[in-house]
Amino acid sequence: MSQDQKYLHDLQADPMGTAEAAAAIIRERSGVNHQVALVMGSGWIDAVSAFTAGGAGEELSEIPLISLPGFPPPKVEGHGASVKSIRIGDKNALVFLGRTHIYEGLGIAAVVHGVRTAIKAGAKIIILTNACGGINSEYTVGQPVLIKDHISLTGISPLTGANFVDLTDLYSARLRKLVKSIDPSLAEGVYAHWRGPAYETPAEIRMMRTIGADLVGMSTVPEAIAAHALGAEVLGISLVTNAAAGISGAKLDHHEVLAAGKASAARMGPLLRDVIGTF
Ligand code: HPA
Repeated sequence: MSQDQKYLHDLQADPMGTAEAAAAIIRERSGVNHQVALVMGSGWIDAVSAFTAGGAGEELSEIPLISLPGFPPPKVEGHGASVKSIRIGDKNALVFLGRTHIYEGLGIAAVVHGVRTAIKAGAKIIILTNACGGINSEYTVGQPVLIKDHISLTGISPLTGANFVDLTDLYSARLRKLVKSIDPSLAEGVYAHWRGPAYETPAEIRMMRTIGADLVGMSTVPEAIAAHALGAEVLGISLVTNAAAGISGAKLDHHEVLAAGKASAARMGPLLRDVIGTF
């Protein structure tokens, strides 16, 4: 059995038990309980330095994901490979520097393993960040947008069985209100989840706009559903890193997506830090 096969076998055999095992290691190594967890999307990693800048917070531990049960080796450039435990104000935050996507082909349990682990490690609030294409023509590159709802175009759920979870308040209205009390200029939008890894065609973007999507990306939705199903409150923040296909006429390029994320980290880091302070 290859390393990938063994990892998939163990995780799929017992996803919740694997998450509990990973959480136990995190609790032991960091020595604390965590109230909140963040998943840092493409280009968001630079925002993490703001959590500790100027004595605002303290890094308690950093654990390579590969040393935790159920986490695969990272594959996408721009995504780190560890989870940090950071004291921010009076909260302990678990900060995932990277995530697994459906397009990696490791199965849906792998995609949501981080948030399940975070919740087993105590997190009651999950902040999901991502890079996305802007469909709404009012959005500009570098703009953060709060996710108010989503459209799953993959149709893939992390839940199995007769688990008829209500999703009407999936992206917590309470948390969105708190964030907007810090930055009232933030827009809210509907995020369409696209499997990828190819970007959308212009015709697909026109379809998404017609059915009510403002943003499009390849992550977040399965994690939001898995977190909500376990009773955590979810905040989703997208960073518009490019106009979606066909909107500006420019071709889409992953390196430009990462560069736009880096350029906006200066605004995102303090925003997230202040948001955590209000919880
Ligand atoms: N489409 C899908 N995912 C993305 C995009 C996009 O335009 N930009 C960043 N992630």
